Amino acid sequence: MTAGAAFSRGLEGVIAAESALTYIDGQKGILAYLGIPIEELAEHSSFEETAFLLFYQRLPKRAELEGFQSELIRHRALPEPILDLLKRLPRTAAPMALLRTAVSALGHFDPKPDDVSTTALQEKALRLTAQMATLTAAIGRLRKGLEPIAPTTDLSHAANFLYMLTGQKPTEEATRVFDVALILHADHEFPASTFASTVVASTLSDIYSSICAALGALKGPLHGGANEQVIRMIIEIGDPSRAESYIKEKLARKEIIMGFGHRQYKTYDPRARILKRYSERLAQQTHDTRLFQIEEIVEKTVIEALGGRGIFPNVDFYSGTVYHYLGIEPELYTPIFAVSRIVGWAAHIMEYLKENRIFRPTTRYVGPPLGHYIPIEQRT
Ligand code: CMC
Repeated sequence: MTAGAAFSRGLEGVIAAESALTYIDGQKGILAYLGIPIEELAEHSSFEETAFLLFYQRLPKRAELEGFQSELIRHRALPEPILDLLKRLPRTAAPMALLRTAVSALGHFDPKPDDVSTTALQEKALRLTAQMATLTAAIGRLRKGLEPIAPTTDLSHAANFLYMLTGQKPTEEATRVFDVALILHADHEFPASTFASTVVASTLSDIYSSICAALGALKGPLHGGANEQVIRMIIEIGDPSRAESYIKEKLARKEIIMGFGHRQYKTYDPRARILKRYSERLAQQTHDTRLFQIEEIVEKTVIEALGGRGIFPNVDFYSGTVYHYLGIEPELYTPIFAVSRIVGWAAHIMEYLKENRIFRPTTRYVGPPLGHYIPIEQRT
């Protein structure tokens, strides 16, 4: 315990690191990577270019982007024993838990897993970015009893993921929507998962350990796990006519509504605004607007009740229906978050290690006063 130090439950309002990567204004609903508004990146960039931006803290020139894309493609395939391992694990295991196991195992195939020099980390970050997609697609297929599909060398990161999952080359529209979802999830400053991975990295441990910590944190329903919970809730509601009463009853029981609220945003999450547009567009294109209609009523009901307290949809609210309309199963929504967020985790680790100082906060001691050890025969 450090005398006089401030205590903030959940570290609310505590600045734990300096970062040039992501800017959030939670009152105005602004999000930008390296100063570029998320709306502009979603409109004009690609996941690959966004990854470069976050890794190297600048936009690439054309030749650099092409080189980066080629390197990502080159590292897509998984070591065969990793696929064997995934095949031997219980099919019923949670996909996020399988992903965590697989990332841990990937470290054993890196000849220098403990090398945390800048160059080594850049290579590992790129490889992990490429392979997180392949792992997630493989997990998605294995849990349905299907063989994993080998990655292509001619598709973009987004298109290749959808191909590895379904076995079919996706349409341009599906590829673009998925690419935008990946851009939107790539980084978000210092949420629990990024903080967890940076804490591990600050001990100079290997990046695989750091990313496993991040995956563990992302899995929780208060963080990335919320997107799966949202779609399950929307499916459970089942019909737009039930949405308002369902939410009002939940609120009356003081239950948390998944996909709403954020430590940083006290207004509409700009990512949710973009995803809502895509969700609506896909709903119309697939002539299946029921789930989107339910979401709109849920949104209206929650904002009417809690908007005054700064509770609005977050990124996890509309991402679920976007993935649903792309034909993806709910169990994969949180792993898909990781397919993108690996970029933010790795970028923060690389940035933090440039001026590393081990994370070692303290606790406010609330236990018994100093006393003495009591021998076992004297304990009452
Ligand atoms: N539904 C109902 N009430 C809520 C919600 C919600 N979704 N979110 C916050 N509140 C209430 C909360 O109960 C508390 O009320 P009171 O002051 O009466 O105790 C008040 O608002 C302040 O909330 P908090 O829990 O102190 O806020 P926090 O900053 O500690 O937690 C949060 C942020 C995201 C964990 C929380 O809003 C939540 O549990 N949301 C639902 C889960 C979710 O959607 N998570 C995804 C977050 S965004 C993307 C990501 O990181 O993956």
